Amino acid sequence: MIKPDGVQRGLIGEIISRFEKRGLKIVAMKLVKISRDLAERQYEMHKGKKFYDGLIEYITSSPAVVMVVEGKGNVVELVRRMVGSTDPSDASPGTIRGDLSLEIGRNVIHAADSEENAEREISIYFSPDEILSYKRIDEEWLYEG
Ligand code: RTP
Ligand code: MG
Repeated sequence: MIKPDGVQRGLIGEIISRFEKRGLKIVAMKLVKISRDLAERQYEMHKGKKFYDGLIEYITSSPAVVMVVEGKGNVVELVRRMVGSTDPSDASPGTIRGDLSLEIGRNVIHAADSEENAEREISIYFSPDEILSYKRIDEEWLYEG
């Protein structure tokens, strides 16, 4: 998810471009104003933590872009590495957070941290018929076999 600060700061193209260029396939995508109900479902594991209320406020404050990317191998781990550390001040240069953000409470992007959470989060924002199946023309050059 490109969080509301990423959308407001005009970073949608920059961020999507990194996933596209890496070779990951976008199989679903939409611009949404996230409701409190959906934000609470997404971040249910953080309920009760001190940053929870601010996080829900942040994520529901303005439109966000939600998307599903696909590829061979451990894409959850690959995407988390592209995103970088939760706190941008610890995030390495070259990562999305490390290049584009400064503070933990405005870290421009969210990515699922396990396959189980990826499945859970996809079902929060997308119905099965919104997940598209297609071949990218460059697949035979992205993968050895
Ligand atoms: P995300 O879920 O958004 O991809 O981030 P993450 O896995 O790297 O970090 P997580 O621990 O799941 O925290 C979720 C989001 O809550 C905000 N946060 N603020 N002020 C704080 O101490 C604090 N800690 C977390 C961040 O926006 C973080 O991305
Ligand atoms: Mg998380």
